[in-house]
Amino acid sequence: MADASRIGQVFVNLIHNAIKFTAPGGSIVLSAKIEGPVVCFCVSDTGIGINAEDLPRIFERFYKADRARSSKGTGLGLSISRHLVEAHGGKIWAESIVTQGARFYFTIPIA
Ligand SMILES: Nc1ncnc2c1ncn2[C@@H]1O[C@H](COP(=O)(O)OP(=O)(O)OP(=O)(O)O)[C@@H](O)[C@H]1O
Ligand SMILES: [Mg+2]
Repeated sequence: MADASRIGQVFVNLIHNAIKFTAPGGSIVLSAKIEGPVVCFCVSDTGIGINAEDLPRIFERFYKADRARSSKGTGLGLSISRHLVEAHGGKIWAESIVTQGARFYFTIPIA
């Protein structure tokens, strides 16, 4: 059970980031999988990736990784997404290998 417009906003934030940080010719893949009591959604890209030092901080308000300082945006999208997912009782996290891309996951409990 989910608020469609709020979870839609999470997808827009993640997909917008994936497009912004991936050069033309890269790929962006969306997937969803039932994992026990939750649905786990994933937005994965083949873009610039995120440094290990930045990874734990990207969900903070206004945080932008060094290599993204010149990109457009205020650094709020992931912070808002985290609040929306947590309001649904879910979790959100990211994995990345620098220069090879990033994967963002979030879960929503199955009602
Ligand atoms: N798919 C991604 N690939 C590489 N870096 C990313 C990706 N998504 C987010 N980041 C990093 O995390 C930072 C925070 O992302 P967030 O969406 O919160 O802010 P933003 O996109 O810079 O601005 P806003 O979303 O407010 O327009 C980004 O500035 C960038 O450094
Ligand atoms: Mg963003």
